[in-house]
Amino acid sequence: MGVDMGELRGTHVPVLLERCLELLAPALDRRGAVHVDFTLGLGGHAEAVLERHPDAVLVGLDRDPEALAHSRRRLERFAGRTHLVHAVYDELPEVLADLGYPVFHSGLFDLGVSSLQLDEADRGFAYAKDAPLDMRMDQSRGITAEEVVNGYEPGELVRILRQYGEEKFAQRIVSAIVRERAKGRIVSSARLADLVRDAIPAAARRTGGNPAKRTFQALRIEVNAELAALESAVPAALDLLAPKGRLVVMSYQSLEDRIVKRALAERARSTGPIDLPVELPGTGPSLRLLTRGSEPPTAAEVAENPRAASVKLRAAERIDEQDQARGAARERPRMSATHGGRGRRRPGEHQEGEGH
Ligand SMILES: C[S@@+](CC[C@H](N)C(=O)[O-])C[C@H]1O[C@@H](n2cnc3c(N)ncnc32)[C@H](O)[C@@H]1O
Repeated sequence: MGVDMGELRGTHVPVLLERCLELLAPALDRRGAVHVDFTLGLGGHAEAVLERHPDAVLVGLDRDPEALAHSRRRLERFAGRTHLVHAVYDELPEVLADLGYPVFHSGLFDLGVSSLQLDEADRGFAYAKDAPLDMRMDQSRGITAEEVVNGYEPGELVRILRQYGEEKFAQRIVSAIVRERAKGRIVSSARLADLVRDAIPAAARRTGGNPAKRTFQALRIEVNAELAALESAVPAALDLLAPKGRLVVMSYQSLEDRIVKRALAERARSTGPIDLPVELPGTGPSLRLLTRGSEPPTAAEVAENPRAASVKLRAAERIDEQDQARGAARERPRMSATHGGRGRRRPGEHQEGEGH
């Protein structure tokens, strides 16, 4: 693999580890609780869950076989209660069914790329390192970034850079790519990073970190179809979350966070008629949001772990069905005119749009 495990373990701190453990702990506080790590990566979060909860079982997924191999070694001492599976995270229903678990109790998504993927020069994720333009999290399938950069229509490339990279200079960058690829294929990450830097205005080069960052992010999202997988994975996960089960999701860019926010908010509100004073059976919320909007990292966390700088954490708990039945008979809080009309929030619940 070319990466020293000890070095990875020592220098790559799992993002918001204590906060994740704190949020998930109530759901893991039962015998045989099943914890799903949807993005196992280097196994940092998973290892901490297994250490703190000696009765918990881990189902760890990753689409990257190298990450799985790394975690398998790291988590060897817990082998009796771990199942590490090579899968895309929207395949959870099949994975749990194969393992014979009807539901899970605690789940964590830590989205994006792992330190392993960024550190391994030959994967092509890092704009700061020269490598073949690959960027596939699973190198056994799918198209590479090289194929996207050299083969996509210019209009499609502009859309990807704008949408997935939120790149203001998408048009200029794509024009430069098109000119360059007419001369010869663009095959290396350093060549692409240089092209991007030269394409954007000099003033913009001086602010906001490496100018290639947004283009690389956009290509990575396209190559791995990351947003489509997330779009289906969160609802599929919520369907299988046990009553009082908890899910934590950490995203690192706004498109991911928007998908998560919507999926959680949809189940955290009532679907019954808005003017009824009581909840009709089956129309109550099935989720309780545990965070106010999305939680940012603290300054101390960012200082300790630069990767945490852009994190947005959201968490929710599945409402117990019995509570829900009781909720059906419970009076709804009255709407107040100052509360935007659809005042269905119960005391203690958070409402989307609050906070971040
Ligand atoms: C940020 S890392 C996770 C780090 C991990 N929490 C730790 O403590 O080491 C994200 C991982 O998710 C994996 N991943 C990304 N998208 C995925 C998907 N759609 N399905 C499965 N795994 C995915 C990546 O391969 C990567 O290893």
